Amino acid sequence: MRLLFVCLGNICRSPTAEAVMNALIEQRGLADSIRCDSAGTSGWHAGEMADARMRRHASKRGYALTSRSRQVRLADFEDFDYVLAMDDENLSDLQKMEPSGRFHHKIHKMTEYCREHQASQVPDPYYGGDAGFERVLDLLEDACGGLLGEISRQG
Ligand code: 4NP
Repeated sequence: MRLLFVCLGNICRSPTAEAVMNALIEQRGLADSIRCDSAGTSGWHAGEMADARMRRHASKRGYALTSRSRQVRLADFEDFDYVLAMDDENLSDLQKMEPSGRFHHKIHKMTEYCREHQASQVPDPYYGGDAGFERVLDLLEDACGGLLGEISRQG
């Protein structure tokens, strides 16, 4: 099972989703069966580490963000089983990047899997303050738990 987390820059939300999900996978002994990666709809920050503010907030909860930013590529739609968008813009950009529509059933919004929080998007924290980064972590911890539950139920 392969999961690709996607946001705009691949330096705040999606690398955090990748780290949170990897921690859950590790805790549950599922590392042999589920693989995670993340990417951006833009290539603006390609090659960069995650945003220092996002890394600091994540590290307070025990997550190390180690991935380097890369842009989504067409092959990702074939290679991954779930392509998880953080917001509505990511969702529509992903659909446009795969014009055949053959893989659109793999594209979901991450907030579909939230169980505790009522949210329709994981908001972009880039131009905001500390609360935005904490909100990203709150929503992603909730959604990653829900998504892993769904995958586990499918077997
Ligand atoms: P992300 O956040 O999509 O969660 O990685 C952003 C990072 C960079 C920019 C916007 C959002 N930017 O405009 O450079």
